[in-house]
Amino acid sequence: MRKNIVAGNWKMNTTLDEGVELANEINTLLKGKNVNCEVITCVPFTHLTSVNAVLENDLVKLGAENCSEHEKGAYTGEVSASMVKSTGAEYVILGHSERRQYFGENNEQLLAKTKLALANDLKPIFCVGEVLEERENGSYNDVVKGQVEALFELSPEDFGKIVIAYEPVWAIGTGKTATAEQAQDMHAHIRKVIEDKYGKEVAENTSILYGGSCKPSNAKELFAKPDVDGGLIGGAALQADSFLGIIEAFN
Ligand code: PGA
Repeated sequence: MRKNIVAGNWKMNTTLDEGVELANEINTLLKGKNVNCEVITCVPFTHLTSVNAVLENDLVKLGAENCSEHEKGAYTGEVSASMVKSTGAEYVILGHSERRQYFGENNEQLLAKTKLALANDLKPIFCVGEVLEERENGSYNDVVKGQVEALFELSPEDFGKIVIAYEPVWAIGTGKTATAEQAQDMHAHIRKVIEDKYGKEVAENTSILYGGSCKPSNAKELFAKPDVDGGLIGGAALQADSFLGIIEAFN
């Protein structure tokens, strides 16, 4: 069966020292606690190795926030999937709406990144989600379907390694959360889109996370929905106690 997951996404926050301290705090808080989900912390490239040194991998798994669509070579400033893997990371966020919006990442690039991540034994957390205009004009189901379909070149085996994160762009960092019903409807839609392509088993085994102003006060209601398998957490992952509060929504 699919896993419940709470993943933090630090984005471009914390210096190296601050990041190591935060990771340490999260690790310490989780020790001896009854944790009913997989916990992942996705951090800036510069922090991966140092954060990995303080995390106990059976408590918190490590992830990156992006990787290059190129394997290696003359791409100044880029970081490849194999480089990410070599730090000890197990996961990589791909297709975050901020990457799509501010860095123009498109479906073709995201498919290339996903293939390289998988080839390097990294598990992609693949983000999808509509902007406010698409929510308001009613095209959101089609938009998200198209984003998921960008991965449909993958074999069922490879698709089975992917975690999907549904993050309505209008809810990210805005304090405005999708209602638990809106999240459930979209997650069920995404699962159906996967089922139509890959069959029931792959669809039922795919973890679909909700992201967008998820916090301790709303996590329980969101995670109680049958197709919401956890969260991708931005702002609330930058404080160890609020991140823990979200993890405890599964208790
Ligand atoms: P937020 O970000 O929790 O701060 O809204 C979520 C995300 O972008 O992954």
